[in-house]
Amino acid sequence: MKLTFVGCGYLGATHAACMAELGHEVLGMDSDTDKVAILNSGKAPFRERGLDEMLTRHTSSGRLKFTASYAEAAAFADLHFIGVGTPERADGDGYDLTHLFSAVRRLAACLKNPAVITVKSTVPVGTAPRVRDLLHQIAPAGRAIEVAWNPEFLRESFAIEDTLRPDRLVLGFEAEHSWAEAVLRRCYEAVVRAGTPTVVTDWATAELAKASANAFLATKISFINAIAEVCEVTGADVGKLADILGHDARIGRRSMRPGLGFGGGCLPKDLRGFVARAGELGVEQAVVILREVEAINNRRRERVVDLACRELDGNVAGKRIAVWGAAFKPETDDIRDSPALAVAERLRELGATVVVTDPQALDNARKTHPELDYADDPVTVVEDADLLLHLTEWPQYSHIDPRSLAARAVAPRVIDGRGTLDAGAWRQAGWTVRALGRP
Ligand code: UGA
Repeated sequence: MKLTFVGCGYLGATHAACMAELGHEVLGMDSDTDKVAILNSGKAPFRERGLDEMLTRHTSSGRLKFTASYAEAAAFADLHFIGVGTPERADGDGYDLTHLFSAVRRLAACLKNPAVITVKSTVPVGTAPRVRDLLHQIAPAGRAIEVAWNPEFLRESFAIEDTLRPDRLVLGFEAEHSWAEAVLRRCYEAVVRAGTPTVVTDWATAELAKASANAFLATKISFINAIAEVCEVTGADVGKLADILGHDARIGRRSMRPGLGFGGGCLPKDLRGFVARAGELGVEQAVVILREVEAINNRRRERVVDLACRELDGNVAGKRIAVWGAAFKPETDDIRDSPALAVAERLRELGATVVVTDPQALDNARKTHPELDYADDPVTVVEDADLLLHLTEWPQYSHIDPRSLAARAVAPRVIDGRGTLDAGAWRQAGWTVRALGRP
């Protein structure tokens, strides 16, 4: 099939490449001409495992191209995906849909023939009819344009896997057995054939699928982090507890790693967006739990700052603090709402010299947090440090020998914010170890 993808960020660039991998002929469209040039050279403008190779393969084979022209995109196919960003509004009260409606308007103006517009952007429930009305109003093809809703559940660093072999495929339509449904079923035929459960539903359910999935994942993380708070005053071990709970198949261990909590460009924003929308709809009471989920998450960051102050005898001013990790999670260079950087920033505000290292995210961190200091590797960052904080659980950090580090620090003290360091080995090597939710 021929198809386009409007908006080539994490979601769009990955989806475009994966659709080419499935054999489709794909045109990616983004109004950022620099991004288009990078993508056409077979590279991603961000780090995502396996994506550069896939982009190179398909830009070379000719199955994948990128453009900055809406007219070219509209003329290329009759199936168009839209995955532009829907950031948080500046007032923090819900989503900013400016990019989405602007993309819809500009694409619509060029749609002369019947087409299916499939939205993948994360939106507040109730957006689909607004998109349909705009399209019917503006497109020369008018009511011959159909709208489908196809929420995306991909995780950064597993984006290709999650696109080609998702846990489920959700397709929302205005009417049963529509032309849009036939077109999307054909597009995803290989994904469905591989055994992906497919749920065909209405627009509102499809829109809510994304909001409620992220809300549940955030709740699961905050649940175990709330239990960690109880562990901290009882001497219990939240890591063991998570294992015990996880053995119950009804609960499950996934997304229940206790620690510094969630960050990134999705979970925190979607949580607040869901609460804001529920408020507009008059059902805020139904999602009141989500406010507590966010509060628990914020408390984990404060707890690390508090522990750091205590370890440094109540005064961090003038102390040198080394931080392992800047990315919001391992295997990405994404630092949006990074818990690690939030803690680093707070300690700097309190007067500490904070030196951060990260295997991938240093360039991004330097741009947004120029006031922090940086070191290229996890060994030199510890040089002359009064305290080490482990805040993003890169696997390589667990393999560093604590014995070789101890002599470099002014004082061998570590706070493990992610609970993945071998506390016994570190203690044996002479370190004082504090870990969230663990004895
Ligand atoms: C999240 C969801 O997992 C995806 O399903 C969704 O599609 C995506 O948001 C989105 O809305 O686009 P992502 O932000 O890439 O994906 O990352 P996750 O792997 O879910 O991690 C989010 C945050 O939670 C990270 O800061 C991570 O360190 C933290 N986390 C995750 C925990 O603290 N504990 C866990 O058990 C799991």
